[in-house]
Amino acid sequence: MKKRNNNNIIILAIESSCDDTSAAVLKDGEILSNVTANQAAHELYGGVVPEVASRAHEKNIIPVVDVALQKAGVNKDELTAIAFTRGPGLMGSLLVGVSFAKAMAMALDIPMIEVHHMQAHVLAHFAEDPKPQFPFLCLTVSGGHTQIVKINAPLEMQLLGSTIDDAAGEAFDKTGKLLGLNYPAGPIIDKLAKEGIPRFEFAKPNIENLDFSFSGLKTSILYFLKKEIKNNPQFVEENIKDICASVQKAIIDALMKKIIKAAKETGIKEIAIAGGVSANSGLRKAVQETGEKLAWNTYIPRFEYCTDNAAMIAVTAYFKYLNKEFVGQEVTATARWSFEINK
Ligand code: KG4
Ligand code: ZN
Repeated sequence: MKKRNNNNIIILAIESSCDDTSAAVLKDGEILSNVTANQAAHELYGGVVPEVASRAHEKNIIPVVDVALQKAGVNKDELTAIAFTRGPGLMGSLLVGVSFAKAMAMALDIPMIEVHHMQAHVLAHFAEDPKPQFPFLCLTVSGGHTQIVKINAPLEMQLLGSTIDDAAGEAFDKTGKLLGLNYPAGPIIDKLAKEGIPRFEFAKPNIENLDFSFSGLKTSILYFLKKEIKNNPQFVEENIKDICASVQKAIIDALMKKIIKAAKETGIKEIAIAGGVSANSGLRKAVQETGEKLAWNTYIPRFEYCTDNAAMIAVTAYFKYLNKEFVGQEVTATARWSFEINK
């Protein structure tokens, strides 16, 4: 394998696990560029269509990588490693990123680094200051996962709790679908909720440990809407802001209850949030306010680092590069990949 510039670690990272194609360039731990192409096509279908997603990744990946290199002012010959999301995610989507990374690593004769998507969401906090101190807790809330993670060291993570059914993002998106909102409904509900009053109550999940459940909430909302629409067919249109505020409050309350419990049980006061749903303004506010009350140090990522992005893949890859954790050309995508990979 060729030896590149001796002094700098320059990593190109690729993320293609779901419907966003993203590439980032990192130099010695610092993000130089982070470019993401979103796929609007899924709005039409009310959810991500795997076949449509992988075709769009194929179309987007070369231009996205080109722009990321250009923005970073880095020539591909200067790269010291290529990182990619190995999983978890949609198989067809992951394969586009993995195949691209393998081809580029082979052509440039540089090592490859595989990254776990959920580890990367947590480590997005190391893309810029202030960085959490170890050990810290992270509430990772995305479209596919809802987890409470204890992070002992950059690559040493322990799962304390996770959802037993829907993810928090799914709770937003599926409720949005019931309300006739476009996909992904999370950001739309967030916006409408800002002008609404959370005056409707829904069933609360009743789970003792640090796990989550959101399917009961969805059913409770469905029955509530059916009942109200029977009395008033215009109910949703007339009350959309208050419904959104109520749904958002129910999801946030469920999330906050468990992160407070986890902080109490572990005695940890370094608290972070990550993943697409951490872009939610209500959740950000709740974490900040609770943090002030309970004397936590809270870490809330910039919007760009909440939803899927390659900067978080690059940051994770940097830690792995320092550990010399490389993979060979036999590596392949893993749609379902256990979280505690380094235990
Ligand atoms: O992390 P992410 O980009 O992709 C996955 O790995 O799943 O998360 C996407 C999820 C979607 O469910 C989307 O509705 C949700 O994040 N989301 C939000 C907001 N922005 C994105 N949910 C609530 N409020 C938001 N502002
Ligand atoms: Zn994600």
